[in-house]
Amino acid sequence: MTGNADQNRIIIFDTTMRDGEQSPGASMNLEEKLQIADTLERMGVDVIEAGFAIASNGDFQAVNEIAKRVKTSRVCSLARAHRADIDRAAEALRPAAVKRIHTFLSTSPLHMKYKLQMEPEAVHQAVIDSVSYARNLVDDVEWSPEDGSRTEHDFLCRCVESAIKAGAGTVNIPDTVGYTVPEEFAELIRMLFNRVPNIDRATISVHCHNDLGLAVANSLAAIGAGARQVECTINGIGERAGNAALEEIVMALKTRGDRLPYWCGVDSTQIMKASRLVSAVTGFQVQNNKAIVGANAFAHEAGIHQDGMLKHAGTYEIMSPESVGLVKSTLVMGKHSGRHAFRQKLRDLGYDLGDNAVEDAFRRFKDLADKKKDVFDEDIIALVDDNVARAHDRVKLVSLGVVCGTKGPPQADLELEIDGSVHATKATGDGPVDATFNAIKALVPHAARLLLYQVHAVTEGTDAQAEVTVRLEENGRSVNGWGADTDTLVASARAYVNALNGLFVKREKAAPQALSA
Ligand code: KIV
Ligand code: ZN
Repeated sequence: MTGNADQNRIIIFDTTMRDGEQSPGASMNLEEKLQIADTLERMGVDVIEAGFAIASNGDFQAVNEIAKRVKTSRVCSLARAHRADIDRAAEALRPAAVKRIHTFLSTSPLHMKYKLQMEPEAVHQAVIDSVSYARNLVDDVEWSPEDGSRTEHDFLCRCVESAIKAGAGTVNIPDTVGYTVPEEFAELIRMLFNRVPNIDRATISVHCHNDLGLAVANSLAAIGAGARQVECTINGIGERAGNAALEEIVMALKTRGDRLPYWCGVDSTQIMKASRLVSAVTGFQVQNNKAIVGANAFAHEAGIHQDGMLKHAGTYEIMSPESVGLVKSTLVMGKHSGRHAFRQKLRDLGYDLGDNAVEDAFRRFKDLADKKKDVFDEDIIALVDDNVARAHDRVKLVSLGVVCGTKGPPQADLELEIDGSVHATKATGDGPVDATFNAIKALVPHAARLLLYQVHAVTEGTDAQAEVTVRLEENGRSVNGWGADTDTLVASARAYVNALNGLFVKREKAAPQALSA
C-alpha cells in the first residue's frame, strides 16, 4: 500500500437488502434480512442499506429491527426526495447506533422530462430541500443523482455542489442503467473533483449497475479517480443485471494492491458464508463460473493445471480459497459421522449456525446419509441452504407420496402445514410434478403463474440430490423458490412451497412510484 492509509480507505456500502431485493424474483422476509444484516456486520461492512422504509410495512420493520440490532455498521434507509419518505426513513432508523438517510432524485434530461416531468430548476430546488430536510433529522445524509452518469455535466456539478452545501456528507454517483465504461466513468469522477468547489467536504461514492458486465470495472476506475465509497451487493444481485459484486470489489482490492493501492475493512474470509446465505434466501443460485464465489472459482480441471497446482499453488491460483472463506477439508462425511464432525464440517464450509439449526441440519444429514453412500460438500451446502431457505416459511411441506409410471394417471398425496395446522389433499395431473403442484394449489389457492421450473443435480450419480428452482409470477411481481432432496418430486414440492412463501412476502410490498433505481 502506498500513500496515506486513511485517504486510501474504501468505504464498503452494501445494498443487498435494498437494490438486491429489487432483483426480479428476489424476496426476503424479516428473519432472513436479520440474518443477512448479522453476516454483513460480522464481515465488517461499513454501511448497510437495510431497505426503503416507505416502500411497505415490511420494509419499515426490517430497517427498524436492523437498526435496533446492528451496532458497528452504519444502518441506512433509502428515501425519495419527499418529506414523507424522509420522515419514514428517520423514524425507522431512530434506534440505530449509527445511521444514514440516503435520498435521491433523477437529474438526467431523460429522467427529468419523462419520469419526473419536472424542469431542471425545480429538480435543483428539490435537491436542496430534500437534503436540508433530511439533515435536520439525522447527521449523516447521502444524496444520489439518479441516472448520474447520463446527466449533463454543468447540471450535475450544480446539483452536487448544492447537495453538499445543504449538508450531504456523501454524494453518490450512480450509473443507474449500467451504461458507462471505465475510462468515461473515471473522467466523470475526475471532472467533479475539478469543478465542484466544495467537493472536499463530502465523500464521493459510486453505485454501478451491471447491464454491460462492467459494474466492478467501473467502480474500480472511479476509485482510481478519487471515489472513496463503493455501493455493491453480495453475489452482485440487484435490478436487472445487478450491481457491482461486493466480493469482486473486495478481492480485487486485496489481490491487486500493487495496482490498486486501496484497502477496506471487510474480512474477506466471511465472503463465502455471505454468498451462500444470500443465495439460499433469494433462491438465486450462483453461476458455477462466477468470480470469487462460483463453484468453479477455485476448481482446476485440466491435467496440466492440476499438475502445476501440485507443484506450486501460485501457478494457477491468484488468491487462496481460504482467503474467501473456503476451507479445504479432509473430513469425509458418511453415515457414521457424528455430530462433532458434522459441526466441524459446517464450520469448514463457512456456516456459523445456532444449536437448533445444527440439530436440524444434522437430522437431515443423517437421513441423507442413509439414502446416499457418499455425502459431498455440495450435498451439505444444499441441505443447509434448504433449511435456511424455509426456516421462517408460513407454509411447510409435511409429507408427499406420488404414484406415477405407465399404469395410470399420476397422483400426488400431500400434507402441508399452513400457519401451524396440517392440511391434506390428493390431486392428479399431467405427470407427477404437475400432480404435485396441483395438490399444492388445492391447499393454497392462488392465481400465480409458473414461469420457471428447473432441476439440477447437486453432484454426480443417480443418487444425487436434486436442486429445484421454481419461479412464480403474480400481478407483475415474481419470486423464486428453491428446494433440495434426493427425491426430485420432494425437492419440487419444497421449491414450489418456498416460492409461495416468497409471494406472501411480496404481497405486502406496494411498489413505490418511481422506484426504478
Ligand atoms: O441505481 C440507482 O440509481 C440507485 C439509486 C437509488 C442510488 O439505486
Ligand atoms: Zn441501483
